[in-house]
Formats: sequence, C-alpha cells, structure tokens
Amino acid sequence: MKKIGYKIAITFIVSLLFTSCAAFTDNSYHVSSPDGMLKFEVYTSQGQLYYKVNDGETEVFQESKLGLKFKNHSPLGEKLEVISSSNQSNNTTWEQPWGEKRLIEDRYEELLLELQETNGDNKKLNLRVRVYNDGFGFRYEVPEQAGISELIITDEITEFKLPTVDKAWWTAIYSEEYYEAITQFTPVNEMDTVCLPLTIETQSGKYLAIHEANLTNYAAMNLYCADSSTLSCDLTPWSTGEKVFTNVPFVSPWRMVIVADKPGDLITSYLELNLNEPCKIEDTSWIETGKYIGIWWGMHNGTYTWHMGEKHGATTKNTKMYIDFAAKHNFKGVLVEGWNYGWGNDWTKEGDKFQFTTPYPDFDIEYLSDYALKKGVRLIGHHETGGATQNYEQQMEEAFAMYNKLGIRSVKTGYVGSRLNGKERHSSQYGIRHFRKVIECAAKYQISIDNHEPAMPSGLRRTYPNLLSQEGVRGQEYNAWSPDGGNKPEHLTIIPFTRGLAGPIDFTPGIFNFENPVNPGTRVQTTIAKQLALYVVIYSPVQMAADLIENYEGNPALKFIEDVPVNWDITKVLDAKIGDFITVVRKDRDSNEWYLGSITDENSRFITVDLDFLDKDTNYRAEIYRDGDDASWESNPTAIKIETSTVTKTDQLMFRLATSGGVAVRFVPIMD
Ligand code: NOJ
Repeated sequence: MKKIGYKIAITFIVSLLFTSCAAFTDNSYHVSSPDGMLKFEVYTSQGQLYYKVNDGETEVFQESKLGLKFKNHSPLGEKLEVISSSNQSNNTTWEQPWGEKRLIEDRYEELLLELQETNGDNKKLNLRVRVYNDGFGFRYEVPEQAGISELIITDEITEFKLPTVDKAWWTAIYSEEYYEAITQFTPVNEMDTVCLPLTIETQSGKYLAIHEANLTNYAAMNLYCADSSTLSCDLTPWSTGEKVFTNVPFVSPWRMVIVADKPGDLITSYLELNLNEPCKIEDTSWIETGKYIGIWWGMHNGTYTWHMGEKHGATTKNTKMYIDFAAKHNFKGVLVEGWNYGWGNDWTKEGDKFQFTTPYPDFDIEYLSDYALKKGVRLIGHHETGGATQNYEQQMEEAFAMYNKLGIRSVKTGYVGSRLNGKERHSSQYGIRHFRKVIECAAKYQISIDNHEPAMPSGLRRTYPNLLSQEGVRGQEYNAWSPDGGNKPEHLTIIPFTRGLAGPIDFTPGIFNFENPVNPGTRVQTTIAKQLALYVVIYSPVQMAADLIENYEGNPALKFIEDVPVNWDITKVLDAKIGDFITVVRKDRDSNEWYLGSITDENSRFITVDLDFLDKDTNYRAEIYRDGDDASWESNPTAIKIETSTVTKTDQLMFRLATSGGVAVRFVPIMD
C-alpha cells in the first residue's frame, strides 16, 4: 500500500485577534463568517440561552434553545447571564496525510461567551461558536468551578428550529443498530428519532447537513422533531438511561451545520475535519492506504463459510491464490475473514468466544504473511468481535502486537450484534470510549483500522489518521443476502450526501458478477460501469475490489480498478441531485491524472461534462468506461464500452447513463 509522507502542517497565515465582542443588543452577541454572509446570533431571554442563524437574508435557524440537563444538578441554560465575551479569527491551512483533498483551509470567526447562572447555584457555562463560510459549529464548555467535580448528563437542550417544515434524508437511530437502514426522504415532522448527519433541503433552496464533530468521551447526538419544525437533541443512552458521565472541566463535541447552496457543496465542505483536533500521531509514515481484494464476498454470497469445514474460505491455498492475483493486478492488500477461532455456524451468537491470536489449522498465517510480503502485498487482518467488546479489549493488545510482528499494517474490525458487551449501544458513551481505545491501542502497534458496525464517524481521522475507513452504511453485502433483494438503484445516489458527509465509507464496490444462485432474488442492482464509477464517487482511502477473483479474470473493466488511486489532491462535485445522480472528479495526489465518476438512479439519463476542471495547456488521453448502448441494470448489467479519445480542458463529453448505470473516466496527460 502507498506510503504516506510525514505529516507537514502548513500554516499560511495565523491571525488571532482578541477583542471584546460588541453586543448586538443588550444581551445579544453575534459572530459572522469571514465572508460576512452567515450570521450566528446568541442571546439570553429571561435567562434562557438561545441562538439564531441567518445566511444573508435567508433565515437558517430561528430562535433555538441551548443548554444541558443533569441528574445530579439543576439544568444549565435556563437562568444564565453573559459575564464576558471575546472574539478571535483564524486563517490557517493544514495538510491531510491522506484524503479527498490535500490542503484544507481552516478559516473562521469565533465567539466565546462566558455565562453564569443568576440563581443561587451560580454554575458557569461557556459557549464557543465558530462560523465558517460553509457553516458553523458550537460547543458547550463547562469550566472548572467550585462545587462541581462530576456531572451526569441526562439530556442536551440543544435545538435546531427550521423556519419551515422542510424535507430531510434520514435513517432511524434506534431501529437499526449501526446505521444500515434504507434512507427515507420525508418532511422533518414525519421523521423518527434519526442519526446524524441529517441532510435537509429547505424551502428557501438551501441544503443543510446537521452533524457533530470530535465526538470524544460523550454519547452520539441524534435528533427528533419536537414540534412541526424544531429538531431536538437526543443523546444515545447507556443501558441504565443516563447519557454521559463526565468530570468537570469538560467540553462537549461540536454541534455543526454545513450550509450550502447546492448538494455538491455539502460534500466538499471540510467543516467536520476543521472542528477536530490536529493529528496526534507524530510520524504517520507507517499509515498505508490503498486498494485491496479479499476472501469476503464469497462468504456473503454463500460460496464459502467463515467457519472451518468443507467450504472454508480462509484456507492457505485460497489465500495464496488471492495474494498472487493481488501482486499481478496492483492490489496492495488481501483481507482474509474467517481465519481465527470463534466462527460457529451461527457466529453472531458466539462472539464472546472469538480468539484473535489463534488461526484455524488450515490457515498458516506466518507462511502467508511472509509470502505476501515477498510479493509486495500485505495481508489485512480481521477482528470480528460479534459485539463482545470485553473479550476484545482483553485480547486486542496482544493481537495487534502479533499482526505488527507479521508485517500486517491494517485491520478490519467488526461489531455485529445488537449491543456491545451484551447491553450497550454502539453510539453510546460506552461505545465511543471503546472505539477510541481501539484506535489508540492500534496506533501503538502501527496498525490502521477499517471499522465495521461503528459509531457514526465525526472526523476523528484528522486526529488519528490510522482510522482509515468505516462502514456505518447499508453496504454492498446487502446485495448478497438481504431479504428485500438488495440496495435499490437510488441508494448510491443518496449516501454520498448523508453518511458520506461523516467520513470515508468502506462500501466495498467492484462486483462484476450479477448472478447469485445461492441466494436467488438478491443481486447487485447496478451496471458494471456504475460499479467502476463508485471508486471515484464514494471516498475511502482503502477501497476494496469486492468480487471473487475468478469474476475479474480476463475482464478488461478491471483495468480501471487497477489504475484508480485512493488519495486525492483535489475533489470537485460537478453536478448532482440527491437521489437522482452525481458526477464527481478528483485529481490524483501523486500524478497529474484526473478521474471522473458519474452514477444515476433507476432512470437512464444523459450527462454533459465540461472538462474545464482539467489542467491547462495539456492534452489528455481519456480512457472511458461507459455503459454499453444496450446496458440496463435489470436486463444487461455487464454491457460496457471501453474507448479512448484525446481531450483538453476546452472540450465537453456527453454520456448516456443506463438505468442504474454510470461512467468512469481516467484522464492521463499525454507527454509530447
Ligand atoms: C459485517 C461486516 O460489514 C462484513 O463486512 C463482514 O464480512 C461481517 N460482518 C463479518 O465480520
């Protein structure tokens, strides 16, 4: 896998300006984005803390409450007055060690309000607000103070009051344990209690994404519609009902909202990353990104089993074949699931018996890891915990040390099971603490993580770039066994604007075979060209070519997967309509090549692409992988046309995307 250079933090201009904030009215304070368009106003009224947000003339949020409720103290937010305020500005740029864009601008205006209760309790609360050109974030900070050392949070009073009953794309938090539901699109007052990010199309023509950033030692935030258009915070509880146990001082995660004029601008906002802490890993050169294949799809579609037996997938023989294939076709990783003890016939009930250092006898891990390294490939480790976190925490240090010794650099973790440790939700404070422990422990052994059944990502990858990718989505695997037949054609035109806003998705694209005799009635509901386009449309620093290697053998479409990078210098969304289509272009970080991916829902459509994103004065060979003229996901998914043409930035390309089809293009500069 590709080595990432030493992280260089580049700071162009840092301007910190401390001033006293001018009061808007007597008890109202405001802070605006650097371009002056987005205005955040915060004030108290009869002691209750509120905020409002405007984008130019457009109201984004009307009077919305702020505050916290405790089990062991009176609420904080209802009887407050402002003691002091200060402002500062920031204009810096930092470099991602890997990512969808190399340089990230971090430019905001900040307001810090210090508040204190006016009743006898005199508790103190600070509110920190940062307003960017593309959105805003705020967080609660409970400073050190006499008389309070521990707090038990039972609720956050945080609200987001929309001016109108807008429509949102949502998935319910409590019916699906790890965010694997089909996205709904309804007016907000018809929503369940939903997980974040919540993407909203407003009647004023804006696109909003409400999310949180830097979720540390806290419970995940969810939202429900309290009245027709007020969204209220719901924190995932512990099994005992409390939400968060914390010591004082503490800061909450950032509550953030991207405010965009078009759907594509949601995707190219880096607000979530900017609201996380800078990288804590000094030398990131051991973190490897790249493409991988694996013994995986075969278990999902019934060709293999995870447990040992006649159809065992993770055998030394199979793995060797996969390593050979990887070496030949430019894949740097081979994932092998089902290599260790603990996979019973119904392994989801046997999670507490997983052993993370004991391979099955037909899997020679030492021989295979060595064989792989000699071929320039690495095994990717796998730790399915079945949700048995205690069992995992007891073994993980030893397991990471073993992998490190074998030259394994990344591990896919998994938490199938409705509760962690038999009782706690994945997105509870318990889950958040566990996932953080794993990332930190893995970093000690120079191991990177691709986490399945996670808590919703909140940008932690900035602080710990060894957290490469996560699931937290209805992924490709549903197309192998889901009783409803699999993901519908529009699914992939929605998730870049919902789950995708939280961070890299390990969706596992690249299925070339559309027959599934073991589970008839299920299938991948796309064309092959759409599968290729996903490598550009869905961002992840680790991308799987998920099919069985025999389904790739001899297929010229594999060339695109071999060529496409995972690390980008620039990302642009050229055009999109959520749930209908999306066209993305990205420039490779290590060459001057550009890549395009465009996908559509169940409707066939024509797209016209202006190539003005290409570099000037350059001729490119466009290697085009488009739907065949008679392609359609239902009747002819494998029809693909591969052709080349010479183009420059003044050209336009026009494509017909088949039903649930797509197009993938590699633009290679032609050297004279
Ligand atoms: C669910 C994961 O999403 C999938 O990728 C994995 O194969 C199984 N769990 C087994 O760990």
